Amino acid sequence: MPVILMIIHSPQPWREVNKSEDRFYEGNIEAWRALEDAYKAGKLRAIGVSNFLEGDLDNIIENCEIKPMVNQILAHISNTPFELIEYCQANDIVVEAYSPIAHGEAFKNEAIKAMAAKYGVSVAALCVRYTLQLGTVSLPKTANPDHMRDNANVDFVISDEDMEALRNIEHIKDYGEHSFFPVYGGSF
Ligand SMILES: NC(=O)c1ccc[n+]([C@@H]2O[C@H](COP(=O)([O-])OP(=O)(O)OC[C@H]3O[C@@H](n4cnc5c(N)ncnc54)[C@H](OP(=O)(O)O)[C@@H]3O)[C@@H](O)[C@H]2O)c1
Repeated sequence: MPVILMIIHSPQPWREVNKSEDRFYEGNIEAWRALEDAYKAGKLRAIGVSNFLEGDLDNIIENCEIKPMVNQILAHISNTPFELIEYCQANDIVVEAYSPIAHGEAFKNEAIKAMAAKYGVSVAALCVRYTLQLGTVSLPKTANPDHMRDNANVDFVISDEDMEALRNIEHIKDYGEHSFFPVYGGSF
């Protein structure tokens, strides 16, 4: 049975991501060609990338045979890379929004809490719905079955006006104890 999806986790070594100017274009082409081979051999059903910026995607698109099918990126209310999402969507690359609940920080944000209360939904559901309305695949993580049910409770629509308000919510700057991870430490 083939693996459903395999992705390159990051265009650069994770600890240095977006800190060094070296985008490792050659290495990414080599890694991508290995994924292409596995895909063509039927071992993988889909191949993609993660944390790739526009230039990293162009490197693959211009030099390789198969376009990335997925780009998995950090995207949540207050920290959404709109231009990158649009670029992926214009190139038929599915965007997966990781940490859609801001790694839990959204629960502490008063503006997000107020918007969730307005719709009568949980903060988590509002966050997931926001990423869905951006046309992304939302990747909330939970180990709790009740939370899982809550995260699937997205059968409501955030109005255009409220989406605009959520797009402009002040950036969450502090991810607390998790800030040491490059992704929450400002590398994205
Ligand atoms: N590609 C990458 O570089 C990358 C980087 C980071 C993360 N990711 C992936 O993205 C996924 C999610 O990321 P994440 O864990 O950072 O952030 P997240 O999904 O935004 O937040 C997870 C946190 O929210 C809590 N939570 C989830 N649903 C909840 C609910 N309905 N009510 C209350 N609490 C809830 C979870 O605790 P409980 O378990 O207690 O519910 C956990 O503490 C993971 O699969 C991860 O592997 C990918």
